[in-house]
Amino acid sequence: MQAAHQTTAALTAASTGDAAGAMRAVVHRRYGTPDVLELGETERPVPGDEDVLVHVHAAAVTIGDHHMVTGKPYLVRLSPYGGLPGPRNKVPGGALAGRVHAVGAKVTGFRAGDEVFGQAMAGAFAEYAVVPAAALVLKPHNLSMEEAATVPWAATALQGLREAGQVTAGQRVLINGASGGVGTWAVQIARALGAEVTAVCSARNAELVRSLGAAEVIDYAKEDFVGGGARFDVMLDLVGNRALSDCLRVLNPKGVYVACGGGGGDWLGPLPRFAGMGLRSLFSSQRLRTFFSDPKQKELLFLKELVEAGKARPVIERSWALSEIAEALRHVGEGHSRGQSVVRVAG
Ligand SMILES: NC(=O)c1ccc[n+]([C@@H]2O[C@H](COP(=O)([O-])OP(=O)(O)OC[C@H]3O[C@@H](n4cnc5c(N)ncnc54)[C@H](OP(=O)(O)O)[C@@H]3O)[C@@H](O)[C@H]2O)c1
Repeated sequence: MQAAHQTTAALTAASTGDAAGAMRAVVHRRYGTPDVLELGETERPVPGDEDVLVHVHAAAVTIGDHHMVTGKPYLVRLSPYGGLPGPRNKVPGGALAGRVHAVGAKVTGFRAGDEVFGQAMAGAFAEYAVVPAAALVLKPHNLSMEEAATVPWAATALQGLREAGQVTAGQRVLINGASGGVGTWAVQIARALGAEVTAVCSARNAELVRSLGAAEVIDYAKEDFVGGGARFDVMLDLVGNRALSDCLRVLNPKGVYVACGGGGGDWLGPLPRFAGMGLRSLFSSQRLRTFFSDPKQKELLFLKELVEAGKARPVIERSWALSEIAEALRHVGEGHSRGQSVVRVAG
């Protein structure tokens, strides 16, 4: 994948036919609380041969962005998205929607002016961002730019349920953390796959997840999803707050436990849990899976069709101005999002 912020010197503007210049951007020079972010100017990135330069209208603000800005768990600093000693990508943000501004020499299927949504490796909190063409799709016709920017985050729910969990029609699916950014999509996608959903969330979000298709709701403050006696075919765990043995206890003997993230400490995050799952799976008839979401056209197209068919919709808790990015990230970092947050970039 091309680095998100190549300088104009590294690539000639001639490859895009577009003269580069300065742009408004959220600049991330060091890890820390969201207050380390500065709203300033940086050089407009230049797309590589297989990339598209998008004029960003809106970008999702996710817990993943919070990890990258804070550099916690520390493990993220070793990932391709992180960097040592400071952030490799000077502009954060990944999921976005906007208009195609220019395309790389080898890109077919997009042209200037197309309304698109997709997943940049970084750089979405800026006027222009480079997105690999392979991670970009035409915007669903029935969504606004702000709504469309939330859709790439749904790929996590899709990959967790369909690929890792192998959910099929008629199965019973338990979603722990059903009211957040991934969870609100997961409830709808599991329903679209024909499953019956039990959602774990707080009482204030019970009506919301029911409206998204959950048949049963467990209020985690009052009820214990482990003690209820119900058995599920698949559990999608978006919180990671319970012992692995507890989670396996709510599954059928051939059930699938899918760990998405959450839990763990400041250093390794969910990694020790994932390692424990590997060990446990050697001795269990149940399947234990984790995955790393990497949305590409295949997933984005599926989601676009789902949304256009009216089978799923974004849940936007709040739309923020780009200048409010620190506040938006602080809110998301508290871990009690109700759906997703977005920042408005253009306009
Ligand atoms: N594997 C991957 O590639 C991948 C990709 C994306 C995300 N993730 C991970 O997936 C997890 C979820 O992401 P997200 O975007 O959905 O996070 P989020 O938007 O912050 O949502 C968290 C949700 O969890 C709920 N919650 C908090 N404590 C809970 C509890 N004890 N029981 C049940 N629900 C609880 C919160 O609801 P209340 O307000 O009601 O508490 C909130 O709605 C994160 O850990 C993230 O890092 C992994």
